[in-house]
Amino acid sequence: MWLRPPVVLGFRLLHDMRGGSSPKTGSSRGYYCRALTGESNYNICINCDLTVSCNCQDFDGSGLIGSLKGQTLAEVFAGPVVRRFLETLGRGELPTSTCSRCPELAVIPEGEERAEPRAGKVPKLGIMIENTAHCNLRCHLCDRQLLLGLRDAKFLSLAHLERVAPMLASAQIESVYYFNLGEPFLSPTILDEIKTLRAHLPHTRIITSTNGALLTREDAMQAALLMDRVYFSIAGVDQDTLQRYQKRGDFEAAYKSMRELVRRRAEEGRRIGGVRLPIVEWKYVMFNWNDSRRHIEEAIRLAKAAGVDRLLFAPGHAPTREMSLRYFSDRLLNLQGELTDEGIAFDFNPVPDELRA
Ligand SMILES: C[S@@+](CC[C@H](N)C(=O)[O-])C[C@H]1O[C@@H](n2cnc3c(N)ncnc32)[C@H](O)[C@@H]1O
Repeated sequence: MWLRPPVVLGFRLLHDMRGGSSPKTGSSRGYYCRALTGESNYNICINCDLTVSCNCQDFDGSGLIGSLKGQTLAEVFAGPVVRRFLETLGRGELPTSTCSRCPELAVIPEGEERAEPRAGKVPKLGIMIENTAHCNLRCHLCDRQLLLGLRDAKFLSLAHLERVAPMLASAQIESVYYFNLGEPFLSPTILDEIKTLRAHLPHTRIITSTNGALLTREDAMQAALLMDRVYFSIAGVDQDTLQRYQKRGDFEAAYKSMRELVRRRAEEGRRIGGVRLPIVEWKYVMFNWNDSRRHIEEAIRLAKAAGVDRLLFAPGHAPTREMSLRYFSDRLLNLQGELTDEGIAFDFNPVPDELRA
């Protein structure tokens, strides 16, 4: 199951997608795509080589809808691929290998049957930007080489970002999710990238997700301090549990960086109202090897000690034999945590709704 927007930080199994063919599920009313028609704040992704994907899991390129190399965002959304995708959906068929698992797939409401397919629309609520397709980790379910093979540039250049940012400004974009399938802080120009975005989009929320290991660099820490929200993906409570999924990960470095960001923002963070930013959230993706009561209690203890605003237990997408069943059944999680769109959350510092992306 994919988590529903507004904040979907999910991940699909690559081998699911390799299955590839588009199932024809035959809704008698037909479908439409919330992301392609401007109803979502997530999933449309500007990739690091300026291609644009319709979903955040486009490992096989079947969701490519255009490229900002030769098109504007408006041209992409008025273009032939978006039109074809929406026509296909309107007939009750799925145009990409990802649609059947995507939270953006919606059934055309009653009364609209056999109407013209909906038109593509440039997103205003939010968009993703992938600044790199490279990663310092080798997560258990991620096929990095396949992804890298799709991109003819592996990092988004500052010159390209300078071209993209004004397009987002004219779309009055509300949120930018500055990550996709790579590690955003791997980019040596991350600080200049965030400054560039801030200069063009002073009122836009900037959100990122990181494995945390590279925030030991001062420029990376400075970049994080310019964001509105930072998710730390740390899938364990020690090196052993972490590296079962996040191979090459470093628990101590990631945890220390998360704690350090909380410490630094107290003095250096941007202030909105009475709140210092960025909001810091530990995202603990659960599998059947890191989900015991001991792990849950230890994560809660460590999250409090680090001073994060929220600890989010997110269900890991994995083959059935590796999935966490305790995510659904553990009493501590389910009675004391709050079920959100993203997973089960423990809030330690209340965050005003308007600052949540
Ligand atoms: C692939 S990561 C890339 C961004 C960054 N490198 C990071 O680690 O956060 C994008 C998001 O997918 C989430 N993720 C990774 N593997 C997952 C899985 N098997 N199930 C659910 N979410 C997953 C991460 O927590 C992160 O928020």
